[in-house]
Amino acid sequence: MITAEELYGKLKDIQVGNPVCQFTPEHCEQLLPTIKKIEDLKREKNALILVHNYVAPQIFYSVADHTGDSYGLSKIAKESNADVIIFSAVRFMAETAKILNPEKTVLDPNPDGGCSLADGITAEDVVRLRKEFSDYTFVCYINTTAEVKAECDVCVTSSNVYAIIEKIPNDKIYFLPDRLMGENIIEHLKSKGVHKDIQLWDGSCYVHEEYQPESIDQVRRNYEGVEILVHPECSTAVVGKADYVGSTSQMLNHVRESKRDTFFLLTECGLTGVLQSEFPQKTFAGSCTLCKYMKSNSLEHILKVLENPEPDSVITLDPEVQRRALQCVERMFEYST
Ligand code: 13P
Ligand code: SF4
Repeated sequence: MITAEELYGKLKDIQVGNPVCQFTPEHCEQLLPTIKKIEDLKREKNALILVHNYVAPQIFYSVADHTGDSYGLSKIAKESNADVIIFSAVRFMAETAKILNPEKTVLDPNPDGGCSLADGITAEDVVRLRKEFSDYTFVCYINTTAEVKAECDVCVTSSNVYAIIEKIPNDKIYFLPDRLMGENIIEHLKSKGVHKDIQLWDGSCYVHEEYQPESIDQVRRNYEGVEILVHPECSTAVVGKADYVGSTSQMLNHVRESKRDTFFLLTECGLTGVLQSEFPQKTFAGSCTLCKYMKSNSLEHILKVLENPEPDSVITLDPEVQRRALQCVERMFEYST
């Protein structure tokens, strides 16, 4: 188990401007009893805790068995031998772990873990669209409910979306629910000289849709040699001005390998915090934005779900939805090999 000193060592460089991210040695000391209870219960129940890159750093750096992006964590969930999986992120990620592990107990400790993308389209919407676009391959972003995945052909994440859409043998693709990511797919295919008819649903991430290309111009003026990293949920205008586009883990790996020493990230604050902690000698310029859904995770919620989960925290799926959603997610893994 991590000590208070080690935890403070991980958290002390995180200064993303939010009170939750400003830590003192005393605060780390106060977190220890809850961390210890979680670690004990985790061992007792053979539980695995998966934590997304955006989740608060005191969770990310204490009780997580694995951290990562939605693709990496899904892969770990798929390969896990644990009896219980606790997914500290948002609802659709916990649901994806259940789709991949129907026989395991999957717990969502975050009672407010929605997502503006996943909440923006229903299975009924997809059923209706499939009638209208009957010869299209339906590709859903992982940020969708299990019911929506069950109605789609292939799931993708921000780390593999471009490569999978290129590989799909059909030239007619309906991509949902993220319109901005869909527009980035269209630009990417154009740049590769690949012609496909891409139809889009009008959903968006309420965090990433706010970023404007002008902030990139300003940062380039203020920080000579800065490297701009953005998530593909941003608009094409933002992505078009960036130096690197990728999933949260891809951005982290990119910073690790980059020769530059100043970076500007247009994504959720959690990732900026992790990077500040991992690379204290590098500079991370500018602002970031909080995702209220990811930030509603807490150590107390994780402890509660291990001690005595509320019925709503135990992921249950209709068996037919689970079976059909699994096909959709499995196709992603097939395309990714
Ligand atoms: P990643 O798969 O890149 O971690 O993204 C998930 C997400 O919700 C981004 O807003
Ligand atoms: Fe959903 Fe956006 Fe939050 Fe990611 S950042 S979980 S896409 S609302």
